[in-house]
Amino acid sequence: MEFIISEPNYKPKVALVRLNRPKELNALNLQLMGELRDTMAELDNNPEVRVIIITGNEKAFAAGADIKQMSSKTAIDMLQIDQFSTWDGIRKTKKPIIAAVSGFALGGGCELAMLCDMIVASETAKFGQPEIKIGVMPGAGGTQRLTRAIGKARAMEMVLTGKFISAEEALQSGLINKIVPVELYLNETVKLAQDIAEMSPIAVQLAKESVNKAFDSSLQEGLFFERKNFYMLFASEDQKEGMAAFVEKRKPEFKGK
Ligand code: CAA
Repeated sequence: MEFIISEPNYKPKVALVRLNRPKELNALNLQLMGELRDTMAELDNNPEVRVIIITGNEKAFAAGADIKQMSSKTAIDMLQIDQFSTWDGIRKTKKPIIAAVSGFALGGGCELAMLCDMIVASETAKFGQPEIKIGVMPGAGGTQRLTRAIGKARAMEMVLTGKFISAEEALQSGLINKIVPVELYLNETVKLAQDIAEMSPIAVQLAKESVNKAFDSSLQEGLFFERKNFYMLFASEDQKEGMAAFVEKRKPEFKGK
């Protein structure tokens, strides 16, 4: 791995994945995205990991897809390279993913943060879809996920003007979960990850799947899907443990069974 640093045991049950191309502000070239996809698949299969954090550095989460790598490509090159298939792989991660964002999260960087399940931002974070300024448009979910997250009017303005929004605006728009001082953003993300890591991993997986279902189904289909997952959890030992612990007024010990 050249552009990804993976720490599966960063904290108990919490893995940290760092985008590591600092000189290029973590511009997402094909190799980096391939490495990220492979890393996420590995962590998803690692039984010691329950939650995955993706981060960059203080200056940049990621400044977008690598413009230099794309600039001379033809439409057919783009079709054949199929760069977004790696993104599809990352999207299949079953465990919760939290983006810890500081500095620039632009273009593909903003799209990668939105592909995660939650976003914790430092107060210096800037989000944007500036592709319009280089004669293209978002290609990795920017027009879809951003619109669902912050609504049509705000998404349209960001996508059509390329203007960045601050962490504060991102919070008010519902794009991110919280803002944290820059020196604490990773620690706070870890705390959120650890809270989730204490829950039953089976319930967490099915709950994530069910929330995501809300984005691509009718309410009726979504409710049906949710109900099946809810019933299915009664086949787990963790459900018995969680409810027994409540009745016995003690902390549950979930085993992921
Ligand atoms: N691709 C390739 N290289 C990039 C890059 C990108 N997206 N973003 C930054 N870099 C490189 C710069 O070229 C520069 O390299 P050199 O030192 O070799 O010249 C280095 O990173 C540092 O960048 P700057 O000197 O520009 O730093 P700055 O602080 O002055 O500006 C910035 C920061 C505003 C983020 C500016 O770099 C910028 O505008 N970057 C491009 C942002 C962008 O347009 N992103 C969208 C890309 S397209 C996309 O993502 C499509 C999609 O939907 C998947």
